[in-house]
Amino acid sequence: MNLINFFCIKNLKNLKNLKNLINLINLINLKNLINLINLKNLINSLVLFLAFSTAAQAQQWTRIENGRLWTDTNGNSVQAHGGNFLQVGDVWYLVGEDRTDSWNPDVNLYSTRDFRQWKFEGKIIGNGVTTPLLGRTRMIERPKLMRCPKTGKFVVWCHWEAKDYGASEAAVFQSDSVGGPYQLVWAGRPMGVKSRDCNVFVDTDGAAYFISTTNENQDLGLFALSDDYTRAISHTPLLIGQRREAPALAHVDSLYYMISSACTGWVPNQAQLTVSATVGDGWQVPQPIGDNVAYRTQASSILRIEGTEATAYIYVGDRWMDPDLPSSKIIMFPIELRDGQVTFEYRDKWEIDLKRGVWRDCSDH
Ligand code: DGJ
Repeated sequence: MNLINFFCIKNLKNLKNLKNLINLINLINLKNLINLINLKNLINSLVLFLAFSTAAQAQQWTRIENGRLWTDTNGNSVQAHGGNFLQVGDVWYLVGEDRTDSWNPDVNLYSTRDFRQWKFEGKIIGNGVTTPLLGRTRMIERPKLMRCPKTGKFVVWCHWEAKDYGASEAAVFQSDSVGGPYQLVWAGRPMGVKSRDCNVFVDTDGAAYFISTTNENQDLGLFALSDDYTRAISHTPLLIGQRREAPALAHVDSLYYMISSACTGWVPNQAQLTVSATVGDGWQVPQPIGDNVAYRTQASSILRIEGTEATAYIYVGDRWMDPDLPSSKIIMFPIELRDGQVTFEYRDKWEIDLKRGVWRDCSDH
C-alpha cells in the first residue's frame, strides 16, 4: 500500500486530513518521488530480510543423542524406565520406574520443554508411602500417565506385581495435579483377568485403553476404560497365542499400529509391527521390524509430537540392563508410520524441531 492509498483509506474521512493530503501532494516533486521509490525499495528489502531471519530463528533444533544416561537439572541420572510422556501445553512430563534400588522400583516424574533439560518433579508413587504394600509385597512396573478429559484428573495405570510375577495384577492411581499427590484407586486383576506387562493407549477421540499381556503371556488383552479412565469396562483378547508384551500403540490416519516384543525377560528380542483398521479387532499377524534385538531396546511408548508443519512419531524404548537395571537407557528415535508400514531405523543422533513437528538425521555432523 503506498502513502496516498494509506491516507485515502485511513484518513480521508475528515477535512483536516484532506488538507494534510493536499500539502503532501504539493511536497511531492519529482525528486521527492524518486526518494520515496528508493525508500519503498529499502523498506521492502528490510521486510524481506526480517522475514527470512525470523524464519531462521523460528527453527529450533533439539538434539537427541542415544546410548547414554540422561541427567536431570540436579545432576542426577534420569530414572524413568518403562514409562511414557504426557504433554501439557508446551511441557512434556515423563513418568517411569525409578530403578535406583533395582528390584524395588517406584515412580518418578520429570518435566522438560526441550527434551534436553529434565526437571525432577518428584517421586509421585513411593515405596511404603503411597500404599503400604508397595515395596513389600508388590512392585510397580511400566507406569503410564494419562490426563482424563472428563475429570481433568491425572491417572496412572501400571503393572502391579509380586516378586515372582505370580500376582499378575494392575493398579490405578489418580491425582488432581500432575505432580501429585497420587492416591491408589484400586489394584487387582482387571475384570478378573491375569494381567502383566502393560501400556495405555488414548485414541484420537479420547477413548482410553489399558493393554496388557494376559493368559500366562499367551495373549494381549485390550481393556476399554471407563470415561474417568480408572476402571476396565470390557476385555478383548488380541494376538491370541502370539506371546507378545511391551505393546505400544499409535493411531495414524485411518490405521492403528502396534509395536511389541516377545516375552524374554530383560533380554532384548525382535520387535514386531501389527496393523489394524480398528483397535479392538482385525490385527494382522505381527511382522518383524528393525534388527533382531530391536537395537537392544524394548518398546515403552510411541510419542506423538504434533507441530505446526507435521506430526512426528517417536519410538521410545528401554535399553534394559545396560549393564544393570539402574543404568538402563531411554532410547528415542523417530519412526514413520504410513500406509500400514513402519520405518523403524535406529539413529544414534538426530534432531527435532518441537514447534514444527519435523525431525532430521544428524548422525554425520
Ligand atoms: C520384560 C518386561 O517388559 C519388563 O517390564 C519386566 O517385566 C521384565 N520383562 C521382567 O523380566
